[in-house]
Formats: sequence, C-alpha cells, structure tokens
Amino acid sequence: MDKRIVVSRVVPESALDVLREVGDVHVCPQDRPLTAPELREAVRGAHAIVTMLHDRVDAELVEAAGPQLEVVANVAVGYDNVDVPAVTGRGVTVTNTPGVLVDATADLTIGLLLMATRRLGEGERLLRSRRPWTFHLGFMLGAGLQGKTLGIVGLGDIGQAVARRARAFGMDIAYTGRRRVAADVEAELDARFLTKDELLRTADVVSLHCPLTEQTRHLIDEAALAAMKPTAFLINTSRGPVVDEGALAKALHEHRIGGAALDVFEREPEVEPALLDLDNVVVVPHLGSATTETRTAMAELAARNAAAVLSGREPLNPVRS
Ligand code: GLV
Ligand code: GLV
Repeated sequence: MDKRIVVSRVVPESALDVLREVGDVHVCPQDRPLTAPELREAVRGAHAIVTMLHDRVDAELVEAAGPQLEVVANVAVGYDNVDVPAVTGRGVTVTNTPGVLVDATADLTIGLLLMATRRLGEGERLLRSRRPWTFHLGFMLGAGLQGKTLGIVGLGDIGQAVARRARAFGMDIAYTGRRRVAADVEAELDARFLTKDELLRTADVVSLHCPLTEQTRHLIDEAALAAMKPTAFLINTSRGPVVDEGALAKALHEHRIGGAALDVFEREPEVEPALLDLDNVVVVPHLGSATTETRTAMAELAARNAAAVLSGREPLNPVRS
C-alpha cells in the first residue's frame, strides 16, 4: 500500500511532484488554516504530514495520525508551532526549511526599515487620501540611516544577511543573542556584541531575527521599549509573540519610540487594533518569505525532507529538541 502524505494547505505543484514519487498525496482543499479538529481528522493514517506555520503540531495531532506516522515536514524555518519534544519523543522526525528564505526575509526587513524611517506608508496614504500637498524642506522628514546603529537581535543566517545589506547603507552593526558568532563573521560585518540592555539603549534601529522560544517570548516588553531611544525604530520579521504588541501600541501611541514596522503579529492573523490607527507603524501580512522563488523553494525543500524520511534516508533538515 502506498504511503499516505497529507499536505495541510495548497503548495506549489513542483513540491507535490516530489511527494508523488514516494506516496499518495492528499492536499487539504480548504483555502484557510484548518481548525485543530479538522487537522486531526485530515491526518488520520498519514505517514507524512506537510505543515504550515499556522498548524499546531503536538502530541494530540501525532496520536490522531496514528503509529505509522514517520515525519512532519514544516514549510517554514521557524518551528514554534511544533512541540518538538512531544513529536520526536514519539519517534516522528520533524524537519524545517532553513537557508532558502534568508535573502527574501532580509530583503523584506530592509524594505520595512526604509518604509518606517522614510515614512513611505504614511506618504502613500496621504496621496491616496487625495489631500493637497506641496514639496517643502520640512515636509514629511524621516530619519537617515548613514552612520546610525542597527541593533540585531539574533545574528543567525537572516540577521547576518540583514547586516550585510545594512552595511551597504552605511549603518554600523551591533548585535545581541545567546552567544557570540564566529570571529570571522564579526570581523566581516564589523559587528559589536552587546548585552540586550546595551543594544536597546544604543541602537537607532532594533531588528528582531531570533526564533520564538520560551526565552524570547515578549523579549520586547514595556521595559525593553522604555530602554530604547525615543528616536529608535523597531522592526519585527521574526515571530509576533517576541514583542508584547499591546505594550508596543502604547509606546507608539505615546511617541516613546520613533516608529515600528511589523511583518508578524502576536495573535496572527489578528493585528492589535490600536496599531492600525497609528501613523508611526508599518504593518504587512507576514510577507518575509513571500517571493515566488522562495515560497517554491521552501515547499520543495519540505517535500524533499518528507520524501527522504519516507524512503528511509536521512532528512536534509532535521529539527532536534
Ligand atoms: C516564516 O515565517 C518561516 O518561519 O519560514
Ligand atoms: C529633490 O527632489 C531635489 O531635487 O533636491
């Protein structure tokens, strides 16, 4: 009997082709995230599940699938949606998609950085409102980047790619994280390692590139926002819950920081309503990896991971707890 492969959401055809070589592929037809009961029903009897970042993968889901389940291939680099110990503890392999989305996410981060510091969303809204305007020297002034400090939280692959781009804009790089990166990376980026507190106090732009874990949940809370310069910007393309969104909305409302740009939200797809009324925040709907090339590469990589496990080979990107 063919192995059953359940894909929780529509993915590019090229990824399905990879999966069809090793099993019987079932793509959930609903054009929305499934509820937990729907997902449990859909995965019954699966040998492999291909999941999205909005799917909660836990002990209950693995048990609903059954003892034949071999692999959960998450189509994302982040895997905070997966209870890794619970899944791997039941003998099921978990994989993610690192590498392929680094450039797209770094590009988007720079896009948000420019949107926030140069007030691009605000300017667009002004023109679309059809209100009159004229050029003058004090009109809609933003903040320049040259000589400013970009403070990166989490100098992994994406953080480094952002740092490289920011260097081309003439920014200085500081970073914080669980540990220092390799000396040659620090040297290439001329990056200074700081404590989180030092970074928050000195950076002109704080950009988040850490995974969501129990240690990073609400890393940016009321106290962290209070430590930031009143002119500093916060960029988040990591995971929403790394920021206390209510505290951020309050800080922005009171103009206690310069502004923010967010690609991810604490209760995605919901956005804190207070944010939507503010001009000093840019909000976009989780577009970090959203290029045709990158999303295709992510789906294909997840498919190759699932196919490897189903064929008895080592996966390319195993996640260990
Ligand atoms: C996207 O947010 C990812 O983790 O791949
Ligand atoms: C601005 O548009 C300039 O020409 O200086």
